[in-house]
Amino acid sequence: MCGIVGAVARRNVQGILLEGLKRLEYRGYDSAGMVVRNAHGHLQRQRALGKVAALEDKLESGALNGNSGIAHTRWATHGRPSEENAHPHQSGERLAVVHNGIIENHEGLRAELEGEGYVFTSQTDTEVIAHLLEREASHTDLLSAVQTITAGLDGAYALGVIHADEPNVVIGTRKGSPLVVGVGIEEAFIASDPLALLQVTDRFIYLEEGDVVRLSGNGGIEVFDSQGAAVERSIQIFEHGDGSASKGDYRHFMLKEIHEQPKVIAEALEGRLGDRSVLVESFGPDAEALLSKASQIHLVACGTSYHAGMVARYWLERYAGIPVQVEVASEYRYRRVVVPENTLFVTLSQSGETADTLAALRFAKQGGYLGSLAICNVPGSSLARESDLTLMTRAGPEIGVASTKAFTTQLTALMLLTLALGRVRGQDSEEQARLVSALRGLPAQVERVLELDPQIEILSQAFAEKHHALFLGRGAHFPVALEGALKLKEISYIHAEAYPAGELKHGPLALVDSEMPVISVAPNDELLEKLKSNLQEVRARGGELFVFADENVGLADGDDTRVLHLPYIDEALAPILYTLPLQLLSYHVAVLKGTDVDQPRNLAKSVTVE
Ligand code: G6P
Repeated sequence: MCGIVGAVARRNVQGILLEGLKRLEYRGYDSAGMVVRNAHGHLQRQRALGKVAALEDKLESGALNGNSGIAHTRWATHGRPSEENAHPHQSGERLAVVHNGIIENHEGLRAELEGEGYVFTSQTDTEVIAHLLEREASHTDLLSAVQTITAGLDGAYALGVIHADEPNVVIGTRKGSPLVVGVGIEEAFIASDPLALLQVTDRFIYLEEGDVVRLSGNGGIEVFDSQGAAVERSIQIFEHGDGSASKGDYRHFMLKEIHEQPKVIAEALEGRLGDRSVLVESFGPDAEALLSKASQIHLVACGTSYHAGMVARYWLERYAGIPVQVEVASEYRYRRVVVPENTLFVTLSQSGETADTLAALRFAKQGGYLGSLAICNVPGSSLARESDLTLMTRAGPEIGVASTKAFTTQLTALMLLTLALGRVRGQDSEEQARLVSALRGLPAQVERVLELDPQIEILSQAFAEKHHALFLGRGAHFPVALEGALKLKEISYIHAEAYPAGELKHGPLALVDSEMPVISVAPNDELLEKLKSNLQEVRARGGELFVFADENVGLADGDDTRVLHLPYIDEALAPILYTLPLQLLSYHVAVLKGTDVDQPRNLAKSVTVE
């Protein structure tokens, strides 16, 4: 959380930094700030409570001008959102720092610095870094100061630092939080995410853990590893293009990303399917050897990615016959886990930077596992780089905080993994061929479901005045119900819960009345008849039902039931298709309620703190 951007350029950097912050707002948006070093060697600072637009307003009347600067958009961890707690933080007038992450030993450091007479003006953990750097930089250059003080910091950080006495210099470093270097034409940049810099470059260096980078005039970029040795890091071209950073004709990024799903699912499949089976070799040269040794899977993730993992458990056990455990990363990482022989450790993460998921991977790598596989959307992310094998989901950048296309491409990748494991474990070849053919048809089916958008928009009116909602599903559609409930609460702030429909009578049925809409997904699968009985239980209690059902299952509108029909799909892929109406429903309810759809309160897209 929090977004950092920094620049040393031939032009005034204010515009570059501001645009960078706008593109990083998905990481946090409760306050923002910027420091630019001017031609007279002074640091000028502007900070504002609220979104980047509030900072932009301030910059209109108090513009900053200079060739080097750092900027930040914040998601509060230590200290409430306020202007005093907004970054950059300064120590005196000569040094400023922006930080993403958490400094765990900040209290001890703060006491030590206060003892030496440093006066703190914020409640943040970051301010200790500013004072530590000021103390160090009084007798050495800024690069050495950063290298020295970071050795005493516990926790996670990505930093951008600037000093009034060093013209055209910005120092960046990272450990546990992301930071990339943008390589411009005689200009150089740092940012939390390449997206922030696509307006100025498509060439990036992905810093490794502990790396420190010194940006200087004329595009100077020097990288030093955690031991302080100068190192060469390769430059990579960012291939996703810049269209993803704009809403195009859509009202919100979320709606745009929902409608991109047919295209990105097709991209996730490209080159990975043979005529009748999945191409295991498309997972990488080492994939077959690793997958064929696996006899169990531990799957770890957070948030929406965790729901994708829960769907995958049904698939992997049913179609590949392999035992699977799924767990949220924040629990897994602190548990004493028993690892059976030949267990493959799989992480799922859109960003590849989620702190708990990354920590879980590092914990798992300490021993016991056969190897690690990351299913991830961001090439070059920490998770991708630190895993033995990576399966890219190819969703392209996702800006809306509520995950949509990243989820359905994760599911697509997980079905490919299921088939790959099935293949190396001797899955019935007819079943494999059937699923491969269903996958080929999936983008077109997704397109058809998106055509239901106007009907779902009408349906959403029934929810705008409601305070609670209950989502039901069975089998692999229980996690789909969980994801539907998560979407609704994230963006419309309606309290929503999800249950396996068979659990209804063990508690939640007590909540059902005319004020509690009940939403269910009813694909044409082996649990359909069971689900229908569960829905009767709702009707009998006067509940209002909204059912997304297969067109052939014989469910129709009634007094207390609204049914929307989806096209037939192979039951294996139904969890992907049935996610879409739930995404659209949440979206339209949020629009009706007038909430901030793309940047819901209190949340952040990428959670790089514990
Ligand atoms: C945050 C986001 C969610 C996301 C979760 C895990 O909570 O708001 O949308 O599912 O992080 O993120 P990851 O990048 O690891 O998939």
